Amino acid sequence: MTLLPVGVLVSGRGSNLQAILDAIAGEALPVDVRLVLSNQPGAAALARAAAAGVPTAVISHHDYATREAFDGALVGALRQAGAEWVVLAGFMRVLTPVFLRAFPLRVINIHPALLPSFPGIHAQRQALAYGAKITGCTVHLVDEGVDTGPIIAQRPVPLLDGDDEDTLAARILVEEHRLVVQVLADIAAGRLHVVSSAGARPHVTCG
Ligand code: GRF
Repeated sequence: MTLLPVGVLVSGRGSNLQAILDAIAGEALPVDVRLVLSNQPGAAALARAAAAGVPTAVISHHDYATREAFDGALVGALRQAGAEWVVLAGFMRVLTPVFLRAFPLRVINIHPALLPSFPGIHAQRQALAYGAKITGCTVHLVDEGVDTGPIIAQRPVPLLDGDDEDTLAARILVEEHRLVVQVLADIAAGRLHVVSSAGARPHVTCG
């Protein structure tokens, strides 16, 4: 079976990375994680990758004078590892065109809200503050904006009376883990297509 060569960018806890690694270990996902790359040396995600025998690297944005130079270093490491798709799994930096042009329409991000609602940081807090009744999670292609790229798939999560940011985030996270694995399976199977027509926003179809 051909495995989809993927690089995963992380900055922290790495529970989405873990969901991907667990699905691979359970032979439910034909993906080869070639490299887990963190901008934070202390990210728990790095230990998760190492425990699964996946190569890791740390490239700190503090070591580069510009965002473009930092992105160039990320691209170099991912290319060297043979990654063809990139998953942003809690990666807390906004990518520049230097990165996006290196992996055109091949970078996905996991966001803990139903975009276009509640983009950016603290999406769960935003949903609670707004008084939304339903939120959820989104996996989307990454473009130059923050959480603005074409939506691939979404899952709803209701807000419950008494929810706080932690309880809501925990319920959303369960769905994030399922969604990112589902989307990677679709990509690996060649089911994902980007439909572009002149003047219109690109849409993603799956099937
Ligand atoms: C997740 O909530 C994801 O939606 C957001 O960052 C968080 C990362 O969590 N982009 P983890 O590091 O995968 O546990």
